[in-house]
Amino acid sequence: MPELDLPQRQATDALMLTGFWYRALPADRVVRNQMYKATLLEIPLVIGRDRAGRPFALRDACPHRGMPLNGGNFNGENLECPYHGWQFNVHNGQCQLIPSLTHDQTLKVDRIYAGSHPCEERDGFIWVYIPDPAPLSAGFTKPIEAPEAAPQIEKFSDKYNLAYLQAEMPVNIDHGIIGLMDPAHGPFVHQAWWWRSRHSIHEKQKNFEPIPNGFRMSAHTPSSNSAPYKLLRLYADADSITTTIDFILPNLRTETIRAGKYWFSSLTTVTPITRTQCRIDVVAAWNLFRWFPFGAELLKFVFAKFVEQDRRTMEMQAEGLKHNPHLMLIDDADRPAKWYFQLKSAHLEAKRTGSPMKHPMSGPVTLKWRS
Ligand code: FES
Ligand SMILES: [Fe+2]
Repeated sequence: MPELDLPQRQATDALMLTGFWYRALPADRVVRNQMYKATLLEIPLVIGRDRAGRPFALRDACPHRGMPLNGGNFNGENLECPYHGWQFNVHNGQCQLIPSLTHDQTLKVDRIYAGSHPCEERDGFIWVYIPDPAPLSAGFTKPIEAPEAAPQIEKFSDKYNLAYLQAEMPVNIDHGIIGLMDPAHGPFVHQAWWWRSRHSIHEKQKNFEPIPNGFRMSAHTPSSNSAPYKLLRLYADADSITTTIDFILPNLRTETIRAGKYWFSSLTTVTPITRTQCRIDVVAAWNLFRWFPFGAELLKFVFAKFVEQDRRTMEMQAEGLKHNPHLMLIDDADRPAKWYFQLKSAHLEAKRTGSPMKHPMSGPVTLKWRS
């Protein structure tokens, strides 16, 4: 057997990439003048909205003695630590008051900062920017700016519906992501009598091309087994439907389906919570079914079913992974997973050396598999 036909050993490193935006919480769960706990990349955060509705994200640890801030008082503007009552501006983390200071003590209160993160609300989610770890400078770290805005869903008309779904997976970020881009599990995991059976398995051929920080499954007529496609067929001639799927570091999968003036667009993220836990958030926008009373529910139902099937599968997989088995990736079905690992290490290498990232793909590639 030629060497190339051997499966490739692949260990996941579970490394979580900093210097990117991550989804933290659904926006509709974060109300004004309230605080919520969230964890991203093992960093405990306190997230909330000020009295004008603007979201914020602070490290959930007081720069004085590390007390979690989420148990403190929040008046819609400043957050008061429950231990010694230091007060911080929630947007930039700047200290406003240290109650123990006497009037002749000259400590520069405004030079002290609780860690704060850039925070934006987009397409129904609160996004938080996680910067590269900075050298420790206890309590004096000014807020950093994010180099770019948080990702958003591409939309093709002014009016559209928006919905989200989420599921927690007890696996590390790598397994979460390669599970998301894995084309071969469909017939086995996503069976349903109203959808497909394992007998609908057939050979497929898809073209991929490199894009900055990721790869694209080039515009094509979608798989007859794809969920939005089945619904779109109710609207448009099958041949006029095209779909494009992108994967972009660190964790973004976008899918765009267009059929004439109708469109469906989604941005799915897999977010590292801890080293052994991730969360998948699917946010979709579409202009189909706006007139049809059950359309949104139908779409949500289909997606909820899929996400739940994936979640249950990864829960079982986590049992197997407990004992660190050897893993392998095969061609062509696992090629996207290989690209993911290669992109990740190329990104880290570029960061380490300061030189431009070397993309692992040199040009378009056609992959074949059965699913
Ligand atoms: S620990 Fe927060 S004020 Fe002292
Ligand atoms: Fe799946």
